[in-house]
Amino acid sequence: MGVPQVVTTARELQTQIAAQRSDGKSIGFVPTMGALHEGHLSLVDASIARCGLTVVSIFVNPTQFAPHEDFNRYPRDLAADLASLGSREVNLVFAPSVEEMFPADFQTYVEVERATQPWEGAHRPNHFRGVTTVVAKLFNQVQPNVAFFGHKDYQQSVVIRQMVKDLAWPIEIEVCPTVREPDGLALSSRNAYLSDDQRRQSLAISAGLRAAAERASAGEQNVASLSEIVLQRLQQEPDLQPQYVAIVDPETLEPISHLSRPAVALVAAFIGNTRLIDNWRLEPPSVPTF
Ligand code: PAJ
Repeated sequence: MGVPQVVTTARELQTQIAAQRSDGKSIGFVPTMGALHEGHLSLVDASIARCGLTVVSIFVNPTQFAPHEDFNRYPRDLAADLASLGSREVNLVFAPSVEEMFPADFQTYVEVERATQPWEGAHRPNHFRGVTTVVAKLFNQVQPNVAFFGHKDYQQSVVIRQMVKDLAWPIEIEVCPTVREPDGLALSSRNAYLSDDQRRQSLAISAGLRAAAERASAGEQNVASLSEIVLQRLQQEPDLQPQYVAIVDPETLEPISHLSRPAVALVAAFIGNTRLIDNWRLEPPSVPTF
């Protein structure tokens, strides 16, 4: 297998896809910003399992970062990324330059209006506009049959599904489970920024979410109490600054007040200068059927 083939322009990408697709294989697409970890690789594996051809993009998208955010220091190591993809049967890696994706005269944006407003959207204005614009462009360049996203960025997956539905793209969106360290920390490229002590404190995020999920499955339906479980666990760590803890409807992302059906608990918190997000599905105990 070795190192996968890398293309850097949309032209080369289309030539290669046309050549490799000649026998009508379905195309699976995994968009990433690189600094690949097992979370990304689980999406690649899901694509390889389902599709005849797998394309991975690696592009740190400037339009989804605010000026004060970590675009410049975001980890970039294409050689290491290609090495970690090398053990898998990835057909193509698309690693365009910023100029290729956003030339100086670029002026068209794709915006999903409502699903982008709360939570991440409230704390990172314009973030989703950057995400949907780059994903829309990548979808047009790759023309996949199936695209793979992680549950880890839950709101992002909802926003992408909405965009694909609204624009009637014939692309199926598959959302894959969050991959975690054995101690519960959700894998993230941004974990590379954490000191040992910050990493230890960050465990409160997944621990608080898991504790709330356990209480939910034990019968707690009061959403305020469930949120409080998460918040109290976060507040035990001196350097963890929660931005929001929300328990929401999985489709609309609107807050719910009573857990009568499955919901998603969302958390965003700063630890030092690093912003982490995580989420957990909450399920009420199953109602016995007679
Ligand atoms: P990035 O943060 O690199 O993530 C790429 C994909 O990997 C996303 O779908 C994300 O949800 C998924 N992912 C990240 N950590 C994961 C984990 N621990 N378990 C499972 N999946 C995980 O998300 C982006 O890039 C960008 O916004 C992008 C969609 C590429 C547009 O620029």
